[in-house]
Amino acid sequence: MTITIEQPQLDAVAERKVAAGANPAELVLDGGFIVPDANAFGKTFRDYDAESERKETVEEFYRVNHIRQTHEFVSRMRGEYGRLDKTEMGIWECIELLNEFVDDSDPDLDMPQIEHLLQTAEAIRKDYPDQDWLHLTGLIHDLGKVLLHPTFGELPQWAVVGDTFPVGCAYDECNVHFKYFKENPDYHNPKFNTKFGVYSEGCGLDNVLMSWGHDDYMYLVAKENKTTLPSAGLFIIRYHSFYPLHKHGAYTHLMNDEDKENLKWLHVFNKYDLYSKSNVRIDVEKVKPYYMSLINKYFPEKLRW
Ligand SMILES: [Fe+2]
Ligand SMILES: [Fe+2]
Repeated sequence: MTITIEQPQLDAVAERKVAAGANPAELVLDGGFIVPDANAFGKTFRDYDAESERKETVEEFYRVNHIRQTHEFVSRMRGEYGRLDKTEMGIWECIELLNEFVDDSDPDLDMPQIEHLLQTAEAIRKDYPDQDWLHLTGLIHDLGKVLLHPTFGELPQWAVVGDTFPVGCAYDECNVHFKYFKENPDYHNPKFNTKFGVYSEGCGLDNVLMSWGHDDYMYLVAKENKTTLPSAGLFIIRYHSFYPLHKHGAYTHLMNDEDKENLKWLHVFNKYDLYSKSNVRIDVEKVKPYYMSLINKYFPEKLRW
């Protein structure tokens, strides 16, 4: 299968320099990644106020998301989906299953997911040829979106996609469309509405409940199926939608030292996740053998989901 898309801006992507080295502190600022000017709709990225066909859909998405993602809801979903008793399939099977969906929360993208996954992975591969775990992380980071599929209970978009944030402590004002949190019952609960809430300083993000969605679900799937991806890969999968942290630097008081190390890799990853949502042409059949070799290296043949 060849994915053909019209806009030619992606020559910039082809001209990226190869960045060397595995020190994430250096990688954050270089990478040679040339940022395209516009998303798939010809607008700037992550502009939640820009007039576009998708603006109203996106705002309504966040209204419902912010009202319904409570501490109780997240605890329940983690318990339910953490059992991994929905189905068994391999990673590539899941990619094909996901290909039917489009993400309502995303102002930059309305194309099949496989294109976004391969664009992300291939862009990383060009700049960091030696970090094969990061290529695979790019390929699989959104697979948790299968929660939208009937096999997984066909969860509504507000429980699958969008930016994530901690529950059980005060919502930071940098969250997009913050005002809608005021209708969330936790916003008025003194147990949950202080800076630390049910957490403590430096407790580590592993001890923090995040709003439920595809990030945490895919993390659970990868971990419970005993992936050999490094800790930074799991961290990227789990927190890639945590924009309040990786874009705005909020909630850092909950991080421990390991989180701080891993965050450097998440910063590297994020620009590829965000800026590869453009119109690149990728020959799926040509790159598939490479990604199958990575899947076989880091995952069992069948996973429990
Ligand atoms: Fe995602
Ligand atoms: Fe993504």
